[in-house]
Amino acid sequence: MTEAVGEATGPRVVELHTRDQVVIKALRNLAGQAGFELKDSRDPGDSAPSVLVVDIDQPGALDDIILLRREFPDALIVGHLGLPDRARWEEAERSGCDLVANRGAVGRQLRTRLESGQLFSGRRRYPICDLADVAGRLGAVRTVPDSPFGPITLWQQQGGRLSCLGDLCPHAAVSLSEGEVSGGVVTCPGHGSQFDLASGERLRGPADVGIDRFDVVVEDGRVWILHA
Ligand code: FES
Repeated sequence: MTEAVGEATGPRVVELHTRDQVVIKALRNLAGQAGFELKDSRDPGDSAPSVLVVDIDQPGALDDIILLRREFPDALIVGHLGLPDRARWEEAERSGCDLVANRGAVGRQLRTRLESGQLFSGRRRYPICDLADVAGRLGAVRTVPDSPFGPITLWQQQGGRLSCLGDLCPHAAVSLSEGEVSGGVVTCPGHGSQFDLASGERLRGPADVGIDRFDVVVEDGRVWILHA
């Protein structure tokens, strides 16, 4: 007997931006159990999709994901790859994929999402780096200069405490990741403003405001920030 999944909170329409038959077959099986409609992106439909499945191996797929993210901000975007390609995987996440999986695992991973009772945690994750990349390091351990939130820096303090802050000093936009760190405080190399590394709070001017802080989570062996 097949157990139904996700009927109460699951998607109504899953839209396919893929022609991969392995993926489509897995989703057809899941659609029968979870009771959602599976439709091709080229077919007309009245309902906005709550899940979009995209073949990341296709040329232009990352640009498509950016556009889909804008058009369907509340949808879950699932990307699949034929072969493990770490760089492509991360690019897809940064473009707006909520979930990336190898093509053989898409059905299983989407099923897990449905069984968890909700498609979204309410906030999206944006990847910063692998946890292994920051192990044993202190201070500014990773700067992402082109995140959707502007330049951001991941900091690690004694005891492994991670925080993520905007990287540009609000006084004159000097990179704080170049600053000196002492006692949980970074001093801007520009004109000496100081900021609390845990909260982003301004401790000393000439900057007159603090810097943005992002919630950090470690999941799946990686470091992410959460955003709306
Ligand atoms: S740029 Fe940071 S204090 Fe002036």
